[in-house]
Amino acid sequence: MAEEIFRSPKKRGRIMVMISGRGSNFMKIHDAILDGRINADIALVFSNKEDAAGLQIAKKRGLETLYINPKLYAEKEEYDKEIIHEARKRNVDLICLAGYMKVLTPMFCNEFKNRIINIHPALMPSFPGLHVQQKAIDWGVRFSGATVHFVSAEVDMGPIILQAVVPVMQDDTEETLAARILVEEHKIYPESVRLFFEGKLEVRGRCVFIL
Ligand code: GAR
Repeated sequence: MAEEIFRSPKKRGRIMVMISGRGSNFMKIHDAILDGRINADIALVFSNKEDAAGLQIAKKRGLETLYINPKLYAEKEEYDKEIIHEARKRNVDLICLAGYMKVLTPMFCNEFKNRIINIHPALMPSFPGLHVQQKAIDWGVRFSGATVHFVSAEVDMGPIILQAVVPVMQDDTEETLAARILVEEHKIYPESVRLFFEGKLEVRGRCVFIL
């Protein structure tokens, strides 16, 4: 069977950002839009947490926000269907997970195949899941970093777009390592979104080629 190839669109795109907390990566993406580096608009900032600090920041920045309470849905798929409905209503081209701490259902991932990207605070495929900065310290790895990747149904395993490396120091705590990684996240996430809407990302199987 011929390999399926996806090429990201060269256009002014519409983004839905999904957050659960602080929203610093969301802000860096928005900053890059405001200063003209990313050819896109943020159509919606969505959260599964009512008190996510990033939602307040989004409101202050004049962006549309939406919180939907997951507890009102018996099934995870029903919740995700509601989010998909909101994304479709706004003609969203790309979904940016930016500290969205709820795993998307395979149905959601397939519905927006090659249209969802995520930032993960480790060098994939090492350390999927949560508390990955602590896991890096516990393993005694000398380097860790950040990964921006397309989201597939397999958690933290989709095709890698960009990575950045940081050293792990012997006296690092989860917090100090997370802070060092975050500096790099703030560079590679906006850059990945820029490449996406420049039409420069080509996904072939599990690899992303930058054109
Ligand atoms: C970031 O470090 C991001 O990599 C991580 O959550 C933080 C969110 O910070 N995401 C994950 O761990 C996803 N599995 P932010 O809200 O300030 O962008």
